[in-house]
Amino acid sequence: MARTDWDSRNLPDLTGKTYLVTGATRGLGYFACQQLAAAGAHVVLTGRNPNRLVDAKSAVKRSNPDAAIETLLLDTSNMGSVRAAAATVRARGRLDGLLLNAGVVHPPKQRQVVGGHELVFATNVLGHFALAGELLKPLAAARGRMVWVGSMSTSIWAHLPTDPELVEGYTPWRAYVQSKAATTSLALGADKRLRAHGVPVQSLVAHPGYSTSGRTRGVRGVNEPSRLTRFVDNLQAPITQSKEQGAWALVRALVDPRADGGAMYGPALIARGAPRVATPARRTRRSELGADLWRACETATHVRWPFDRARRAAS
Ligand SMILES: NC(=O)c1ccc[n+]([C@@H]2O[C@H](COP(=O)([O-])OP(=O)(O)OC[C@H]3O[C@@H](n4cnc5c(N)ncnc54)[C@H](OP(=O)(O)O)[C@@H]3O)[C@@H](O)[C@H]2O)c1
Repeated sequence: MARTDWDSRNLPDLTGKTYLVTGATRGLGYFACQQLAAAGAHVVLTGRNPNRLVDAKSAVKRSNPDAAIETLLLDTSNMGSVRAAAATVRARGRLDGLLLNAGVVHPPKQRQVVGGHELVFATNVLGHFALAGELLKPLAAARGRMVWVGSMSTSIWAHLPTDPELVEGYTPWRAYVQSKAATTSLALGADKRLRAHGVPVQSLVAHPGYSTSGRTRGVRGVNEPSRLTRFVDNLQAPITQSKEQGAWALVRALVDPRADGGAMYGPALIARGAPRVATPARRTRRSELGADLWRACETATHVRWPFDRARRAAS
Protein backbone atom coordinates (compact mmCIF):
# COMPACT_ATOMS: atom_id res chain seq x y z
CA MET A 1 0.00 0.00 0.00
CA ALA A 2 2.92 2.35 0.69
CA ARG A 3 4.20 1.90 -2.85
CA THR A 4 6.15 4.84 -4.19
CA ASP A 5 6.19 3.71 -7.82
CA TRP A 6 2.79 5.20 -8.70
CA ASP A 7 3.10 7.57 -11.64
CA SER A 8 0.21 10.03 -11.85
CA ARG A 9 1.29 11.04 -15.35
CA ASN A 10 1.13 7.45 -16.53
CA LEU A 11 -2.04 5.85 -15.18
CA PRO A 12 -3.03 2.24 -15.84
CA ASP A 13 -5.22 1.68 -18.87
CA LEU A 14 -8.80 2.41 -17.76
CA THR A 15 -10.52 1.40 -20.99
CA GLY A 16 -13.89 -0.20 -20.23
CA LYS A 17 -14.22 1.48 -16.81
CA THR A 18 -16.83 4.13 -15.99
CA TYR A 19 -16.36 6.80 -13.33
CA LEU A 20 -18.70 9.53 -12.11
CA VAL A 21 -17.23 12.74 -10.69
CA THR A 22 -19.22 15.35 -8.76
CA GLY A 23 -18.21 18.99 -9.09
CA ALA A 24 -16.53 18.33 -12.44
CA THR A 25 -16.93 21.85 -13.78
CA ARG A 26 -13.72 23.27 -12.35
CA GLY A 27 -10.91 22.71 -9.90
CA LEU A 28 -9.91 19.26 -8.76
CA GLY A 29 -13.02 17.61 -10.16
CA TYR A 30 -12.33 18.88 -13.66
CA PHE A 31 -8.68 17.81 -13.64
CA ALA A 32 -9.59 14.40 -12.21
CA CYS A 33 -11.98 13.94 -15.16
CA GLN A 34 -9.29 14.96 -17.60
CA GLN A 35 -6.81 12.50 -16.12
CA LEU A 36 -9.33 9.64 -16.06
CA ALA A 37 -10.40 10.30 -19.64
CA ALA A 38 -6.77 10.45 -20.81
CA ALA A 39 -6.30 6.95 -19.36
CA GLY A 40 -9.19 5.68 -21.50
CA ALA A 41 -12.00 5.70 -18.95
CA HIS A 42 -15.59 6.60 -19.72
CA VAL A 43 -16.22 9.61 -17.48
CA VAL A 44 -19.53 11.11 -16.37
CA LEU A 45 -18.91 14.77 -15.62
CA THR A 46 -21.56 16.07 -13.24
CA GLY A 47 -22.33 19.59 -12.10
CA ARG A 48 -25.12 21.94 -11.11
CA ASN A 49 -24.72 24.42 -13.96
CA PRO A 50 -25.44 23.25 -17.54
CA ASN A 51 -23.30 25.97 -19.16
CA ARG A 52 -20.29 25.11 -17.02
CA LEU A 53 -20.77 21.45 -17.85
CA VAL A 54 -20.65 22.30 -21.56
CA ASP A 55 -17.45 24.30 -20.99
CA ALA A 56 -15.86 21.46 -18.99
CA LYS A 57 -16.78 18.86 -21.59
CA SER A 58 -15.37 21.05 -24.38
CA ALA A 59 -12.15 21.53 -22.42
CA VAL A 60 -11.67 17.78 -21.89
CA LYS A 61 -12.37 17.22 -25.59
CA ARG A 62 -9.83 19.90 -26.59
CA SER A 63 -7.13 18.08 -24.63
CA ASN A 64 -8.28 14.64 -25.76
CA PRO A 65 -10.61 14.52 -28.79
CA ASP A 66 -11.19 10.77 -28.31
CA ALA A 67 -12.28 11.15 -24.68
CA ALA A 68 -15.36 9.07 -23.81
CA ILE A 69 -17.24 11.57 -21.71
CA GLU A 70 -20.80 12.56 -20.98
CA THR A 71 -22.38 15.16 -18.76
CA LEU A 72 -25.14 14.97 -16.20
CA LEU A 73 -26.83 17.66 -14.11
CA LEU A 74 -26.33 16.99 -10.41
CA ASP A 75 -26.65 19.56 -7.64
CA THR A 76 -25.41 17.86 -4.49
CA SER A 77 -27.28 20.31 -2.24
CA ASN A 78 -30.61 19.21 -3.74
CA MET A 79 -31.93 15.75 -2.86
CA GLY A 80 -34.29 15.74 -5.84
CA SER A 81 -31.39 16.39 -8.16
CA VAL A 82 -29.31 13.67 -6.50
CA ARG A 83 -32.08 11.10 -6.84
CA ALA A 84 -32.79 12.02 -10.46
CA ALA A 85 -29.12 11.83 -11.43
CA ALA A 86 -28.70 8.50 -9.62
CA ALA A 87 -31.73 7.09 -11.45
CA THR A 88 -30.21 8.13 -14.78
CA VAL A 89 -26.88 6.51 -13.91
CA ARG A 90 -28.57 3.28 -12.79
CA ALA A 91 -30.50 3.16 -16.06
CA ARG A 92 -27.32 3.66 -18.08
CA GLY A 93 -25.59 0.68 -16.50
CA ARG A 94 -21.99 0.12 -15.49
CA LEU A 95 -20.32 2.17 -12.75
CA ASP A 96 -16.81 1.40 -11.49
CA GLY A 97 -16.15 4.38 -9.31
CA LEU A 98 -17.58 7.49 -7.71
CA LEU A 99 -15.49 10.55 -6.92
CA LEU A 100 -17.44 12.51 -4.30
CA ASN A 101 -15.64 15.78 -4.88
CA ALA A 102 -18.13 18.66 -5.17
CA GLY A 103 -17.91 21.18 -2.42
CA VAL A 104 -18.62 24.63 -1.10
CA VAL A 105 -15.05 25.71 -0.45
CA HIS A 106 -15.75 29.33 0.51
CA PRO A 107 -18.89 29.14 2.66
CA PRO A 108 -21.16 32.17 3.07
CA LYS A 109 -20.50 34.51 6.02
CA GLN A 110 -23.96 33.84 7.46
CA ARG A 111 -25.53 30.42 7.89
CA GLN A 112 -27.72 29.57 4.89
CA VAL A 113 -30.27 26.83 4.58
CA VAL A 114 -31.11 24.85 1.44
CA GLY A 115 -33.81 22.19 1.38
CA GLY A 116 -34.04 22.43 5.18
CA HIS A 117 -30.32 21.88 5.79
CA GLU A 118 -27.27 24.04 6.37
CA LEU A 119 -25.78 24.75 2.94
CA VAL A 120 -22.22 23.46 3.45
CA PHE A 121 -23.34 20.28 5.19
CA ALA A 122 -26.01 19.70 2.53
CA THR A 123 -23.61 20.21 -0.39
CA ASN A 124 -20.42 18.61 0.87
CA VAL A 125 -21.88 15.79 2.94
CA LEU A 126 -25.59 14.98 2.62
CA GLY A 127 -25.70 14.97 -1.18
CA HIS A 128 -22.74 12.62 -1.34
CA PHE A 129 -24.11 10.32 1.36
CA ALA A 130 -27.37 10.06 -0.60
CA LEU A 131 -25.66 9.64 -3.98
CA ALA A 132 -23.35 6.87 -2.77
CA GLY A 133 -26.31 5.04 -1.23
CA GLU A 134 -28.42 5.42 -4.37
CA LEU A 135 -25.58 4.07 -6.52
CA LEU A 136 -24.44 1.27 -4.25
CA LYS A 137 -26.02 -1.49 -6.36
CA PRO A 138 -24.30 -0.64 -9.66
CA LEU A 139 -21.05 -0.03 -7.79
CA ALA A 140 -21.32 -3.45 -6.16
CA ALA A 141 -22.16 -5.10 -9.47
CA ALA A 142 -18.87 -3.74 -10.86
CA ARG A 143 -16.96 -4.42 -7.59
CA GLY A 144 -16.22 -0.72 -7.62
CA ARG A 145 -15.01 2.00 -5.36
CA MET A 146 -16.12 5.32 -3.86
CA VAL A 147 -13.74 8.10 -2.89
CA TRP A 148 -14.73 10.84 -0.46
CA VAL A 149 -12.75 14.09 -0.42
CA GLY A 150 -11.36 15.22 2.92
CA SER A 151 -8.94 17.97 3.82
CA MET A 152 -5.72 18.47 5.75
CA SER A 153 -7.61 21.16 7.66
CA THR A 154 -9.21 18.38 9.72
CA SER A 155 -5.78 17.59 11.20
CA ILE A 156 -5.25 21.21 12.22
CA TRP A 157 -8.64 22.42 13.49
CA ALA A 158 -10.69 20.38 15.96
CA HIS A 159 -14.08 21.19 14.45
CA LEU A 160 -16.11 17.99 14.57
CA PRO A 161 -19.61 17.45 13.16
CA THR A 162 -21.21 16.89 16.57
CA ASP A 163 -23.77 19.54 15.54
CA PRO A 164 -23.63 18.90 11.78
CA GLU A 165 -26.29 21.49 10.93
CA LEU A 166 -24.48 24.14 13.03
CA VAL A 167 -27.69 25.47 14.49
CA GLU A 168 -25.50 27.27 17.04
CA GLY A 169 -22.08 28.77 16.51
CA TYR A 170 -21.93 28.90 12.71
CA THR A 171 -18.76 30.33 11.22
CA PRO A 172 -17.77 29.79 7.58
CA TRP A 173 -14.52 28.03 8.49
CA ARG A 174 -16.14 25.85 11.12
CA ALA A 175 -18.81 24.80 8.62
CA TYR A 176 -16.13 23.90 6.08
CA VAL A 177 -13.78 22.02 8.38
CA GLN A 178 -16.49 20.02 10.04
CA SER A 179 -17.97 19.10 6.65
CA LYS A 180 -14.58 17.66 5.69
CA ALA A 181 -14.28 15.85 9.03
CA ALA A 182 -17.71 14.44 8.22
CA THR A 183 -16.74 13.20 4.74
CA THR A 184 -13.65 11.53 6.21
CA SER A 185 -15.61 9.91 9.01
CA LEU A 186 -18.30 8.72 6.57
CA ALA A 187 -15.66 7.28 4.23
CA LEU A 188 -14.17 5.21 7.03
CA GLY A 189 -17.57 4.24 8.44
CA ALA A 190 -18.80 3.24 4.98
CA ASP A 191 -15.83 0.94 4.48
CA LYS A 192 -16.51 -0.83 7.78
CA ARG A 193 -20.21 -1.22 6.98
CA LEU A 194 -19.53 -2.47 3.45
CA ARG A 195 -17.12 -5.10 4.78
CA ALA A 196 -19.52 -6.13 7.56
CA HIS A 197 -22.31 -6.67 5.00
CA GLY A 198 -20.06 -8.47 2.53
CA VAL A 199 -20.57 -5.81 -0.17
CA PRO A 200 -17.58 -5.80 -2.57
CA VAL A 201 -17.29 -2.03 -2.77
CA GLN A 202 -14.33 -0.13 -1.31
CA SER A 203 -14.67 3.25 0.35
CA LEU A 204 -11.59 5.48 0.55
CA VAL A 205 -10.79 9.05 1.37
CA ALA A 206 -8.37 11.40 -0.40
CA HIS A 207 -7.21 14.94 0.19
CA PRO A 208 -5.49 17.25 -2.31
CA GLY A 209 -3.19 19.17 0.04
CA TYR A 210 -3.36 22.88 -0.73
CA SER A 211 -4.19 23.30 -4.41
CA THR A 212 -4.97 26.73 -5.83
CA SER A 213 -6.37 27.99 -9.11
CA GLY A 214 -3.70 30.68 -9.39
CA ARG A 215 -1.03 27.98 -9.49
CA THR A 216 -2.96 26.06 -12.15
CA ARG A 217 -2.61 26.46 -15.90
CA GLY A 218 -5.37 28.34 -17.67
CA VAL A 219 -8.17 26.28 -19.20
CA ARG A 220 -10.81 28.19 -21.14
CA GLY A 221 -14.18 28.16 -19.36
CA VAL A 222 -12.74 26.12 -16.47
CA ASN A 223 -9.75 27.84 -14.89
CA GLU A 224 -9.40 31.53 -15.65
CA PRO A 225 -8.01 33.16 -12.50
CA SER A 226 -7.53 36.94 -12.39
CA ARG A 227 -4.04 38.47 -12.39
CA LEU A 228 -4.49 39.31 -8.73
CA THR A 229 -5.34 35.67 -7.89
CA ARG A 230 -2.28 34.49 -9.81
CA PHE A 231 -0.12 37.01 -7.95
CA VAL A 232 -1.46 36.12 -4.49
CA ASP A 233 -1.41 32.37 -5.11
CA ASN A 234 2.15 32.51 -6.41
CA LEU A 235 3.27 34.17 -3.17
CA GLN A 236 2.32 30.89 -1.49
CA ALA A 237 4.13 28.73 -4.04
CA PRO A 238 6.34 26.83 -1.54
CA ILE A 239 3.31 25.40 0.25
CA THR A 240 0.89 24.97 -2.62
CA GLN A 241 0.42 23.11 -5.87
CA SER A 242 -1.82 23.26 -8.90
CA LYS A 243 -5.31 21.74 -8.91
CA GLU A 244 -4.05 19.41 -11.62
CA GLN A 245 -1.52 18.06 -9.12
CA GLY A 246 -4.08 18.13 -6.32
CA ALA A 247 -6.29 15.81 -8.35
CA TRP A 248 -3.55 13.15 -8.36
CA ALA A 249 -4.35 11.87 -4.86
CA LEU A 250 -8.07 11.70 -5.67
CA VAL A 251 -7.44 9.80 -8.88
CA ARG A 252 -4.99 7.41 -7.27
CA ALA A 253 -7.50 6.58 -4.54
CA LEU A 254 -10.08 5.95 -7.26
CA VAL A 255 -8.06 3.76 -9.65
CA ASP A 256 -4.93 2.31 -8.05
CA PRO A 257 -5.69 -1.43 -8.13
CA ARG A 258 -3.55 -1.94 -5.04
CA ALA A 259 -5.36 0.62 -2.87
CA ASP A 260 -7.31 -0.79 0.08
CA GLY A 261 -10.76 0.18 1.28
CA GLY A 262 -10.52 2.40 4.35
CA ALA A 263 -7.24 3.95 3.16
CA MET A 264 -6.56 7.64 2.73
CA TYR A 265 -4.39 9.20 0.03
CA GLY A 266 -2.81 12.65 0.07
CA PRO A 267 0.28 14.49 -1.20
CA ALA A 268 3.66 13.24 0.05
CA LEU A 269 4.52 16.65 1.54
CA ILE A 270 1.02 17.00 3.03
CA ALA A 271 0.24 20.27 1.19
CA ARG A 272 1.77 19.21 -2.11
CA GLY A 273 3.54 16.41 -3.87
CA ALA A 274 3.00 12.99 -5.38
CA PRO A 275 0.09 10.97 -3.93
CA ARG A 276 0.89 8.63 -1.05
CA VAL A 277 -0.98 6.81 1.68
CA ALA A 278 -1.90 9.34 4.37
CA THR A 279 -3.35 9.12 7.86
CA PRO A 280 -6.79 10.52 8.65
CA ALA A 281 -6.93 12.83 11.67
CA ARG A 282 -7.40 10.76 14.83
CA ARG A 283 -10.59 12.64 15.70
CA THR A 284 -12.24 11.63 12.40
CA ARG A 285 -11.61 7.97 13.24
CA ARG A 286 -13.76 7.98 16.39
CA SER A 287 -16.38 5.32 15.79
CA GLU A 288 -19.04 6.92 18.02
CA LEU A 289 -18.75 10.11 15.96
CA GLY A 290 -19.15 8.06 12.80
CA ALA A 291 -22.22 6.22 14.10
CA ASP A 292 -23.99 9.44 15.16
CA LEU A 293 -23.16 11.08 11.87
CA TRP A 294 -24.37 8.11 9.84
CA ARG A 295 -27.73 8.22 11.63
CA ALA A 296 -27.96 11.99 11.13
CA CYS A 297 -27.34 11.54 7.39
CA GLU A 298 -29.93 8.78 7.12
CA THR A 299 -32.50 10.94 8.88
CA ALA A 300 -31.73 14.04 6.85
CA THR A 301 -31.66 12.35 3.43
CA HIS A 302 -34.20 9.56 3.98
CA VAL A 303 -31.65 7.28 2.29
CA ARG A 304 -30.78 3.92 3.85
CA TRP A 305 -27.89 2.28 2.05
CA PRO A 306 -29.23 -0.96 0.50
CA PHE A 307 -26.42 -3.22 1.72
CA ASP A 308 -28.27 -6.51 1.26
CA ARG A 309 -29.52 -5.70 -2.23
CA ALA A 310 -26.05 -4.49 -3.18
CA ARG A 311 -24.49 -7.75 -2.01
CA ARG A 312 -27.01 -9.68 -4.10
CA ALA A 313 -26.30 -7.45 -7.12
CA ALA A 314 -22.65 -8.46 -6.87
CA SER A 315 -23.24 -12.20 -6.72
N1 LIG B 1 -8.28 23.08 -3.28
C1 LIG B 1 -7.82 22.65 -2.12
O1 LIG B 1 -6.71 23.00 -1.68
C2 LIG B 1 -8.65 21.71 -1.30
C3 LIG B 1 -8.13 21.30 -0.06
C4 LIG B 1 -8.85 20.36 0.67
C5 LIG B 1 -10.03 19.84 0.19
N2 LIG B 1 -10.51 20.30 -1.00
C6 LIG B 1 -11.79 19.72 -1.45
O2 LIG B 1 -11.71 19.37 -2.82
C7 LIG B 1 -13.01 19.51 -3.44
C8 LIG B 1 -12.87 20.39 -4.69
O3 LIG B 1 -12.27 21.60 -4.32
P1 LIG B 1 -11.73 22.63 -5.41
O4 LIG B 1 -10.54 23.29 -4.82
O5 LIG B 1 -11.63 21.98 -6.73
O6 LIG B 1 -12.92 23.69 -5.40
P2 LIG B 1 -13.55 24.56 -6.59
O7 LIG B 1 -12.52 24.90 -7.59
O8 LIG B 1 -14.29 25.65 -5.90
O9 LIG B 1 -14.57 23.56 -7.27
C9 LIG B 1 -15.69 23.13 -6.57
C10 LIG B 1 -16.56 22.32 -7.49
O10 LIG B 1 -17.71 21.88 -6.71
C11 LIG B 1 -18.86 22.28 -7.43
N3 LIG B 1 -20.01 22.52 -6.58
C12 LIG B 1 -20.18 23.42 -5.60
N4 LIG B 1 -21.42 23.34 -5.10
C13 LIG B 1 -22.06 22.36 -5.80
C14 LIG B 1 -23.36 21.80 -5.76
N5 LIG B 1 -24.30 22.24 -4.92
N6 LIG B 1 -23.65 20.78 -6.61
C15 LIG B 1 -22.72 20.32 -7.48
N7 LIG B 1 -21.49 20.83 -7.58
C16 LIG B 1 -21.16 21.84 -6.74
C17 LIG B 1 -18.46 23.53 -8.19
O11 LIG B 1 -19.39 23.74 -9.23
P3 LIG B 1 -19.67 25.21 -9.88
O12 LIG B 1 -18.68 25.33 -10.99
O13 LIG B 1 -21.08 25.12 -10.32
O14 LIG B 1 -19.46 26.22 -8.77
C18 LIG B 1 -17.07 23.11 -8.67
O15 LIG B 1 -17.16 22.28 -9.80
C19 LIG B 1 -13.91 20.10 -2.37
O16 LIG B 1 -14.66 19.08 -1.78
C20 LIG B 1 -12.95 20.69 -1.36
O17 LIG B 1 -13.47 20.71 -0.05
C21 LIG B 1 -9.86 21.22 -1.75
